[in-house]
Amino acid sequence: MGAECNCNCQADSSKKIDELLSQYRGNPNGLIVVLAAIQQDNGYLPKDLMIRVAEELNVPLTDVYGVATFYTAFTLRPRGRNSINLCLGTACYVKGAPEVHDAIEKELKIKAGDTTEDRRFTFDVVRCLGACGIAPVMTVNGEVHPRMTAEKVSEVLSKYE
Ligand code: FES
Repeated sequence: MGAECNCNCQADSSKKIDELLSQYRGNPNGLIVVLAAIQQDNGYLPKDLMIRVAEELNVPLTDVYGVATFYTAFTLRPRGRNSINLCLGTACYVKGAPEVHDAIEKELKIKAGDTTEDRRFTFDVVRCLGACGIAPVMTVNGEVHPRMTAEKVSEVLSKYE
């Protein structure tokens, strides 16, 4: 971690971010470059750093949020080390995905769309993954787990630290 922000916010930023902010000071054209670097550094865009970006690049905060929410490469919330995607498309749904969904929420003590407190998992639901023949389908970090059941959830998730 590098210098502490001097705009009264609590955010720390890396040296790389500090350098980018000074390189693009007063230049709104640097917005995406700076946000991408922050995303890479933190795994998400912390609010304090977005405020700092707005101030230093002279971009309205609403525009910073607009860009941050438009591009799927950016996320406003911390993500877990492991990313679970459970398909709730029609084929998966009728083959029992809702039970798997509830089992994941119960196992991790979070709701879909959230990240566990220890940042071990982020759990998202998605629409058809294009693998309906092996429904219900769940992926963890892109690894496919076919024919999921509520009973398998605990064992499958235990493989991911
Ligand atoms: S509906 Fe789930 S993979 Fe197609």
